[in-house]
Amino acid sequence: MCGIIARVGDGDAIRKLVSGLENLEYRGYDSAGVAVQNGSGISVYKRSGQVSELKDALVGSVPKGKVGIGHTRWSTHGPPTDENAHPHTSQTDEVAVVHNGIIENYAELKATLSEAGHEFTSDTDTEVIPHLFEYYLEDADDIESAFRRTVRDLEGSYAVAALVDGVHAIYAARQGSPLILGLDDDEYYLASDVPAFLDHTDDVVYLEDGDMVVVEPTGVTMTDLAGTRIDRDVEHVDWDPEEAGKGEYDHYMLKEIHTQPNALSNTIEGRIQDGEVRLESFPEGTFDDVEDVHLVACGTSYHAAMYCQQQLADAGIRAQAYRASEYVDANPGPVTEDTLVVAVTQSGETADTLGALRQAKEAGAQVVTVTNVVGSTAARTADEALFIRAGPEIGVAATKTFSSQAVTLSLLAIRLAEDVPGASPPDDVAALLDDVYDLPQHVDQVLKTSDARAVADSYMDSQSYFFIGRGLNNAVAKEGALKFKEITYEHAEGFASGELKHGPLALVTPDTPVFTLFDGAGDGKTLKNAEEAQARGAPIVAVASEDHAGVDVADDHLEIPDTHPVWAGLLANVQLQLVSYHAAQLLDRPIDKPRNLAKSVTVE
Ligand code: AGP
Repeated sequence: MCGIIARVGDGDAIRKLVSGLENLEYRGYDSAGVAVQNGSGISVYKRSGQVSELKDALVGSVPKGKVGIGHTRWSTHGPPTDENAHPHTSQTDEVAVVHNGIIENYAELKATLSEAGHEFTSDTDTEVIPHLFEYYLEDADDIESAFRRTVRDLEGSYAVAALVDGVHAIYAARQGSPLILGLDDDEYYLASDVPAFLDHTDDVVYLEDGDMVVVEPTGVTMTDLAGTRIDRDVEHVDWDPEEAGKGEYDHYMLKEIHTQPNALSNTIEGRIQDGEVRLESFPEGTFDDVEDVHLVACGTSYHAAMYCQQQLADAGIRAQAYRASEYVDANPGPVTEDTLVVAVTQSGETADTLGALRQAKEAGAQVVTVTNVVGSTAARTADEALFIRAGPEIGVAATKTFSSQAVTLSLLAIRLAEDVPGASPPDDVAALLDDVYDLPQHVDQVLKTSDARAVADSYMDSQSYFFIGRGLNNAVAKEGALKFKEITYEHAEGFASGELKHGPLALVTPDTPVFTLFDGAGDGKTLKNAEEAQARGAPIVAVASEDHAGVDVADDHLEIPDTHPVWAGLLANVQLQLVSYHAAQLLDRPIDKPRNLAKSVTVE
């Protein structure tokens, strides 16, 4: 977790560092800090709280310096206090460091350094890095080799950037946490993610695990940890900096909900030709030898994986969605070269998902990732990547990326059904593919006509919020509940509708609204399940098409356009996103940055 940035160039660094941190805040927002090199020592400014608080504190006393580092934190070791905020400094303040990741052997390193007389002032694992760097600087031939020795001693995951007093350079390295170099005409950036410097440059180098860089005003030196020079390709990213801003919306989440029609058009673009699915890296026959499919993912991405699992199973393919954090211990049965493992991850940096992906790769499986981020670790680690093309998502709550994941995975499911021996695509695949073209427009219709705000308002102060659905809509029900609890802090659960009567019904009262999702498949049974809850006093909100039988029974209705059952759940999901958003807004929650969470979870 955490976001880091570093900048080398002409002119003052501080403003650019702080604005970079604002664009990285989705990675953590417990505390923030910057350090600049200004010829008379390293000046460090840091505090607990959000970047805006750091920014306010800097007004009137902007420190000068052309070279600097910055950090926004999501706590792993030690609470979010001023002392635990980054940058951390060494014994004599000769070195300042920002770090994203976890140093697993920090206790050992701390003990050794303490014996050598180093005193520590924070609870963090990070603080050992500047101390160790300073320790090696004492007898090193040059700064670069002292930094290399430091990094080689670290076990765990890190993207780390360091300043040394009096030296106009940044020393940085990566292992297991993202680090991207941005190259402009007269300045360089290093950051955890591209939006941190997208206002200045869109030419980037995605550093690999084991890479180390020294960035000076005159250029960049890249080596591996043995000191051998390496080269990495410069890539051009085509994200629009505007896209990374909130625009006319109050929150990124609302903007991202409203940009789903566009995101979905991008997702689908060129992937259906002459009524057939065409996925760029997966021509016909790619999956001829696949015997079973494992989907691994976390949170919202797991719900998208469930959505896909159901479609694969319907096509006659042995498929299972696993929570990535459980996959390692799940004993998923034999994993062979005929097993296809699909790692679904918006960020491509989720540690649990990367762990599952690497395990599958080591076991010899074919590994594909379905991700949003082109240069992400998942994209570079998997054998092949299939991009969902949703554009940058900043709000911690995943919205547009769920829709784009579910569509991409549905297309992948059809591709697999055509290839995998013994499997077959749905009988009505032509109608299904026809209707996907209408999905962006249908989402737009939902956005323009939704009664979600009024519904959210009617059920404020409920004890708990239930979401139920069957088949594909079981995944959507779970996603609806995750979104609701994540940003409202109210209790919410998603259930397979048939499961209510096996236990959860005991919780149902007039104070537990039940959002019931109907998609035109198995709706009769779902309606019965809703009526069972209603008979116990629960208000029912039907998320269904206009003339659906469930609407007559329900207390409230959130309408979705008529479409193929495979896409109906995604329209229902948009209604649920809006319900969550409006409920959170009525409760005055910090919607884009819910407490205790971060956008990209790079710890296990
Ligand atoms: C969803 O709203 C969450 N913020 C979270 O569950 C997220 O989906 C999960 O952490 C996985 O992230 P990824 O898709 O980037 O791997």
